[in-house]
Amino acid sequence: MPRTLWAVSDLHVRAPGNLDLVREHVRPTNAGDWLIVAGDIAEDLDSIERTLGLLQSRFAQVIYTPGNHELFSRTSDTVHGRAKYDAVIAAAQRLGVLTPEDPYPTFAGRTIVPLFTLYDHSWRDSLMTPTAALAAARDKGIVLMDDLAIAPYEDIAMWCRDRLRYSVRRLSAVRGPTILVNHWPLVREAMQNVRHQEIGLWSGTRHTQQWPQRYRADAVVYGHLHIPVEFSLGNVTHTEVSLGYPRERKVSLPPRLEKNLWPYPVVTE
Ligand SMILES: [Fe+2]
Repeated sequence: MPRTLWAVSDLHVRAPGNLDLVREHVRPTNAGDWLIVAGDIAEDLDSIERTLGLLQSRFAQVIYTPGNHELFSRTSDTVHGRAKYDAVIAAAQRLGVLTPEDPYPTFAGRTIVPLFTLYDHSWRDSLMTPTAALAAARDKGIVLMDDLAIAPYEDIAMWCRDRLRYSVRRLSAVRGPTILVNHWPLVREAMQNVRHQEIGLWSGTRHTQQWPQRYRADAVVYGHLHIPVEFSLGNVTHTEVSLGYPRERKVSLPPRLEKNLWPYPVVTE
């Protein structure tokens, strides 16, 4: 029986109607199907855990990497920043879900690599310093919730650097073709479809630009931008697989459902 590796991201299950759509559409076609979930399930541990539990009960294997929303916390919460990431990962692992902290599985001859690389404000106007670029974005009214719900607790650029080092060390031990999975896009070309280029400050890092080539990716699966699109760059297909918020998915979901492109079929064996 054929089996398919499917992918979704940005389920945002706390948004009205989103969980119903997940229940209805994120289902395997065959018993052996796997599912990638590329971040932004929700902000609270409970919703993250319940959603992963539901999906893991449906698919033979779920591969998951957190997005920025999983890292959100308030002062009154018990875990923040890296501790919040660790709590989310531990919850996923208890369910048998594979994370960026687990051995990389293989599917149809490809190593699936869930990454968690964050951003470091390097996708900016090259004439500006990070501080100046962030100030200019704020002046235009462009501010991400990350600045209030992650940045007060963690130096994100520093964390990004640690994650790049960790990922490179593990990736360099992988042989053969890969499927790279990350919440944030890996290449700056993904920003071409975004209206406000300043969003790039919180959306990736220039240090992953060559990874799809260097680590022999067949496919790159990402989310974050809530702009579902597929593009090719040097023989690698990059696909944004987000569900997104109601106002976004009302437009972007029906055409994908019609063509059976959501969940997105990454590869069939
Ligand atoms: Fe999102």
